[in-house]
Formats: sequence, C-alpha cells, structure tokens
Amino acid sequence: MLGVRKAVFPVAGIDTSFLPATKASPKEMLPVIDKPLIQYAVEEAIGAGITELIFVTGRGKRVIEDHFDKSYEVEQVLKARGKQDLVGLVQSIKPSHVECIYVRQAEPLGLGHAVLCAEKLIGDEPFAVVLADDLLDGTPPILAQMVHIFSHYDSSVLAVEEFESCESTSHGVIDGRHWDERVISVSRIVEKPSPELAPSRFGVAGRYVLMPSIFGHLRSLKPDLNGEIQLTSAIHLMRMEEQVLAYEFVGKRYDCGTKLGYVQATVDFALRHAELHETFDAWLRERLGGAQPAVWTTGEALNQPATPVTGLAH
Ligand code: G1P
Repeated sequence: MLGVRKAVFPVAGIDTSFLPATKASPKEMLPVIDKPLIQYAVEEAIGAGITELIFVTGRGKRVIEDHFDKSYEVEQVLKARGKQDLVGLVQSIKPSHVECIYVRQAEPLGLGHAVLCAEKLIGDEPFAVVLADDLLDGTPPILAQMVHIFSHYDSSVLAVEEFESCESTSHGVIDGRHWDERVISVSRIVEKPSPELAPSRFGVAGRYVLMPSIFGHLRSLKPDLNGEIQLTSAIHLMRMEEQVLAYEFVGKRYDCGTKLGYVQATVDFALRHAELHETFDAWLRERLGGAQPAVWTTGEALNQPATPVTGLAH
C-alpha cells in the first residue's frame, strides 16, 4: 500500500468574511500571532510525513508562493544585522526535503473542482486535502492521526467533530455507525444541511485523506445550483462503491474562516506563545477584572497533554 506523500491545499477562494483585510491579500496569509494560517496547515502536513505540497491557487494569491520561496533580500538584511536566529526561522519555512507545486484554478467552481485541478499532479495514489482556514491543533498533528487511521484501514478518512446543531449549515455532515470510540463508518454525507435535515451532529473539519478514486467521482459531477462542484458530493458517490471512514480527531479546531474562530485561535495561541504568554496572561486577567475567563480554561487545556489515541505513534 502506498503511503500518503502528497497534500492539496485549495487556496484559490476569495474571502468575504475578512474584508477589507483580504481585499488585496489572501485570507490564508492572515497571521495567528506571527505565522500565517497557511503555514500552520503546511506544518501539520509535514508533521504527517507529507513531502509534496500542491497549492491550487488563483489570481491575487502569488504572495503564498513567495512565502514558501527563498527570500534573498530578507535573509541578507537579517544576516547584515546579525540576526542569525531569524535567518534560521525564515529558512525553515520550507524544509529542503519538501517540494511546493502550484497549479491555478482559473474559475471559482468550488472545493471539488479545486481538488480536480490537482488530479494530474496526484496521479494514482492516496493524498490529503488540507483547508487552511480550519486551524487544527493537536498532538500528534491531526493529519498524522488521520494518516495512521488511513494506513490501518486502507480507506479514505474524513476528520470530523461534533458540532452544535445550529452549525450544520457550515459543514459537510455525515451519517454512519461507530466502529470504535473514534472511527465511524460513513453511510452518507450531506453538504451543509439545515439542522432539521442533518443526519448527525458530526461535521467534517477541513482535513481529508482520500483514495485517488475520488477523481472519477469528481469528474462525473455537474455543478450544483451555486455553479460549484462539491467535494462532499463526490465523497457521497465514492461511499456507494467503497468504504469511507470518519475520524473524531484528538485536538481542537478553530474555524479561522470566521472572525470569532480567528480571535479564539489568536487568544489561545497567545496564551502559550513563548514570548507572549506571561505578559498576555497578566494583561488578560487584569482586563477581565481578575475573573477566570472562559478562554483561560481552553488555554490551560491546550497546554495539557492530548488524550492519546490507542495505537497512535507519537
Ligand atoms: C468546506 C466543505 C465542508 C466542510 C468545511 C470544513 O466548506 O465544503 O463540507 O465541512 O469546508 O471547514 P467551506 O468552509 O469551504 O464553506
């Protein structure tokens, strides 16, 4: 069985939730403290053993390519100023064993279409899809947990989490049966159903490990009413022919496609940032009148070791 070596990062989409910030810069470059969202996503993929990063980009997204490219100017300035540690930091953004490949999605025809744009670069092997506006935080990295499940069952794996019923309209929602504590055999999947029609409260977070058979299903789909080809619809078709699993990952998802999720990520990451955590912690307590704020609990929880998943290599 082939391992998972390649990951697709669909980054062509235009964001409207963060306008005007994202008018001229990609939403994937929004920083949480000092690192852009796309870099968190790439680090997670590299942590899962991925060595080929395929970015499906569009107009106005060139800066993502620049971010993962060598920057002679920045490195020269840092060297001249004797900031060797920062030279190391910028050089480590793309480790030398990792390759970045860019392909353009000329029209905004949906997530399924974006994945289809990478078909030739993927070929006939399993691959991951990583949506950078879902910032997933966990140990081991969430994609590494999924690759482990994939290797064990030799089936496509979708990352899922339990959501509030009112949030069904922002997720692909699965139906299925638990195999063990965290693994669900998917019987069907519906894209963004209304709460009354949602088959469960397990929604897809933006991580997928897919068999290459997905491409045939993507090619067979016609655009939906919004003119988009949905990855969820192709997964639903795939499920009719082969097993698809959902995996309740160990960790936390921040929906950085929304302002609230983005601010929550920023606060939690600041609370454990090497440079910031003490001063930010003190400031936040004072700001909240000495009260124990809700975010505090989350920040502390994040600092604790994640519950291990049985059989997962650390
Ligand atoms: C996409 C998928 C959806 C999934 C979600 C996760 O939606 O279509 O099935 O649950 O990502 O974030 P989007 O958030 O791009 O609208």
